[in-house]
Amino acid sequence: MSARYRRVWITGGSSGIGHALARRYARAGAHVVVSSRNAEKLAEVARETGGAAYPLDVTDPEAVARVVGEIWEKEGPVDLAILNAGAAFKRAGRDDTAENLKKHLDVNLLGVAYALDALRPRMREAGGGTIALVGSLAGYVGLPRTSGYGTSKAALAYYAEALWAELRREKIDLKLVSPGFVKTPIVAANEFPMPFILEADAAARIIARGLERPAFEVTFPRRLAWPLRLLRVLPASWRVALIAAGERRAGRKR
Ligand SMILES: NC(=O)c1ccc[n+]([C@@H]2O[C@H](COP(=O)([O-])OP(=O)(O)OC[C@H]3O[C@@H](n4cnc5c(N)ncnc54)[C@H](OP(=O)(O)O)[C@@H]3O)[C@@H](O)[C@H]2O)c1
Repeated sequence: MSARYRRVWITGGSSGIGHALARRYARAGAHVVVSSRNAEKLAEVARETGGAAYPLDVTDPEAVARVVGEIWEKEGPVDLAILNAGAAFKRAGRDDTAENLKKHLDVNLLGVAYALDALRPRMREAGGGTIALVGSLAGYVGLPRTSGYGTSKAALAYYAEALWAELRREKIDLKLVSPGFVKTPIVAANEFPMPFILEADAAARIIARGLERPAFEVTFPRRLAWPLRLLRVLPASWRVALIAAGERRAGRKR
């Protein structure tokens, strides 16, 4: 991996994909700064990577603005920010309530937007940078039993697409990362099949390589992304009927 990025900030760096990315960028020689709520785990990651830890709850806009300011001041300007912190709350109850949707939007959409707002003027002043938003293939089409999480990730993809050209003019390269299933705590309680699931290190390798390329989106694994892309181009009334039929078939097998 090239050492294109010298100073990298990773939210959700205490676990799973974010932790694997922190290790990977540190090995490539970058100064890695990690954030998430769990200060103890973050400190361990910072020790392991020789980087710095800034505990943060991304749902608190004031804390996000303060921490981004502190990172700039104490660690120096970040040239790659990976806004990866994310959560899935469906195990706490039904997924299809407004309250559950709000919890997902707070972390997975607004948590990203607060960070982007804080990064944008600083990166612009520094002459540019790269911001990668970690979405999900779950946001590609409306899937059953994941309306809260899936809606937040679909909205995040829309947000990234809507802002891309504007940020480009400010020399900020906005990228979207859309992973399929990755073996991390977020999916540990899933009771449904997770086809083509990857280890976190393999996901981090694909993401880091993808972020070296000019393409807007880093999507993987292809075997899961392509069928979802095909579903996406169908008329919506066919798509919902096909997904419902698949769900009925899966229910009969369960
Ligand atoms: N694993 C998959 O199959 C998969 C697939 C598609 C997309 N993704 C996305 O990949 C990203 C990383 O997830 P993961 O799979 O690595 O899961 P994970 O191991 O559970 O990591 C989630 C990270 O987000 C942090 N986090 C959660 N809520 C936060 C908050 N309010 N403020 C700050 N940090 C917060 C967690 O740390 P603390 O608990 O310390 O705050 C943790 O570091 C997420 O955006 C997820 O949606 C995952």
